[in-house]
Amino acid sequence: MTLEIRLMTVDDYEDVYALWSTSDGMNLGEEDSRAGIALYLERNPGCCFVGTEGGRLVGTALCGHDGRRGILRHLAVHQDARGRGLGKQLVRACLEALAAAGISKCNVSVMDSNAAGLCFWQHLGARVLEYDWRTLQLATGGRAGSTTGSQFTEKPMSNLMATLRAALHQLEQERATIDRQIATLRSVLGHTKAAPAAQPARTTMVRRRKMSAAARKLISQRMKALWAKRKAAAQTKGKH
Ligand SMILES: CC(C)(COP(=O)(O)OP(=O)(O)OC[C@H]1O[C@@H](n2cnc3c(N)ncnc32)[C@H](O)[C@@H]1OP(=O)(O)O)[C@@H](O)C(=O)NCCC(=O)NCCS
Repeated sequence: MTLEIRLMTVDDYEDVYALWSTSDGMNLGEEDSRAGIALYLERNPGCCFVGTEGGRLVGTALCGHDGRRGILRHLAVHQDARGRGLGKQLVRACLEALAAAGISKCNVSVMDSNAAGLCFWQHLGARVLEYDWRTLQLATGGRAGSTTGSQFTEKPMSNLMATLRAALHQLEQERATIDRQIATLRSVLGHTKAAPAAQPARTTMVRRRKMSAAARKLISQRMKALWAKRKAAAQTKGKH
């Protein structure tokens, strides 16, 4: 049977939600309620698609933009229909809709744990953006898809101060760890120069983000091996 794609309508909701619910790598929230999806489709006409085979819904992609950047989410193809080009067709349809709306770039959020999904996007040419900032989120007080009963409430200042204090404490601990690692590496490499003045917080964060747990483990293993080698050499020298 032939795979076909068409625009998504709110009547597809039950089938679409069933597909999302059984697809790996999906992060579903209250915005994925029927009312939430109805609002999304209304705001982003011509941008969301489904794939069908013999009338059965086997693929979906939600896409929209804020007038500046496109966003593509919840791309899913049913297990039975994978590997036949439907995922790529859905992505292409979304990107063409964005281009026609005058949008030049489209972001995709993929969970770190979704290795297959990350691989798929990179295969299609998506580049992974390395940020030195974080995305924060505020609750508006409203409900997804509903226009009634919204009331924005600020968090008490004491909560915010506690959060900031905890963040500062964590950064200080991380800086201390990095300083220790630098000092050890310097000593292994035979440097005796004093450590440079502490870097501003932003640079420290960038460095921390770039050094993955795997890299830290590798450095620590290499350092242990070097120390063992130096110790053995010193012992041999002592014997002569
Ligand atoms: C990711 C997914 C949508 C791909 O759908 P699909 O219909 O099987 O993909 P296609 O058949 O269109 O593949 C298009 C191309 O990507 C390649 N590809 C497919 N899955 C891939 C993967 N996991 N890693 C690398 N490449 C992949 C295909 O080989 C094909 O390559 P080609 O164009 O060079 O021949 C599907 O596997 C899925 O629903 N996964 C679960 C949900 C998910 O992870 N979504 C993405 C994160 S939001």
